[in-house]
Amino acid sequence: MEHKDMIQINKDGWNKVAEQFFEGSFDILDYGRYAPTEEELNLLGDISNSTILEVGCGSGHTLEYLSKRGARELWGVDLSSKQIETARQVVSNLHTTISFIESPMEEIPGLPLNYFDKAISIYALGWTVDLAATLKNIYGSLKSGGVFVFSWEHPIHSVVEFSNETIQFRRSYVNEGMEKHDSWRGTPIVMHNRKISTFINELIGAGFVIDQVIEDSKVDDHDTSDSSKWYSAAKARIIPSTVIFKSHKPLV
Ligand SMILES: C[S@@+](CC[C@H](N)C(=O)[O-])C[C@H]1O[C@@H](n2cnc3c(N)ncnc32)[C@H](O)[C@@H]1O
Repeated sequence: MEHKDMIQINKDGWNKVAEQFFEGSFDILDYGRYAPTEEELNLLGDISNSTILEVGCGSGHTLEYLSKRGARELWGVDLSSKQIETARQVVSNLHTTISFIESPMEEIPGLPLNYFDKAISIYALGWTVDLAATLKNIYGSLKSGGVFVFSWEHPIHSVVEFSNETIQFRRSYVNEGMEKHDSWRGTPIVMHNRKISTFINELIGAGFVIDQVIEDSKVDDHDTSDSSKWYSAAKARIIPSTVIFKSHKPLV
């Protein structure tokens, strides 16, 4: 299947499932299930007066968070018209200048070069059908020294199922590539399976310097969430749910 066909399937899919993801907080920057927050990690550093790109901005709550912490200018990119439409409403009363580009992250027309102080992506980057092209776009858009932080479901978490206190592999960790689902949340969708080393090597290949990789699980001792669920405390005590990468574009 060609990249453009996968992107079209995912655009249609995300337009259908978008409402299931209209959530989030502007009080904390949440990197993902059972992951430490930005408040705990301080990966982005000082946000005030920064120009920041968000890739896969979804319904806009991270843009709202960044605006409320004094960002000077924000840009949000997302494939889904439904997500962009919601994000526009979410940020409509904010005073920060916010631009949106409805586009696949693999090709972002109109994205300025050497422009952003920081780029962020939360649980969106792994949706790309072309990681190298996406990272090239983000790298090109950052100023020298610009910081890029992204989170994604931990690739080990994605390959295992946890039930009855037992871990079972649902597929190989080693075999990467496209995985088409006929009904993900009720719609066809194309996912890509990647190893941790693939994210690391592609970041390096794009020119980024990796500063930190975080795979800590933060699980409350009293959390007894249903252990058969995809994300559960029991699973997170054994395998991190989320991985976070912090990298930067070197000074030239
Ligand atoms: C799980 S949501 C995360 C949204 C948001 N970052 C958040 O934290 O709620 C993933 C987002 O990635 C977007 N997305 C998926 N594939 C994409 C692509 N190829 N290019 C741009 N955005 C994409 C989806 O439309 C969706 O808004």
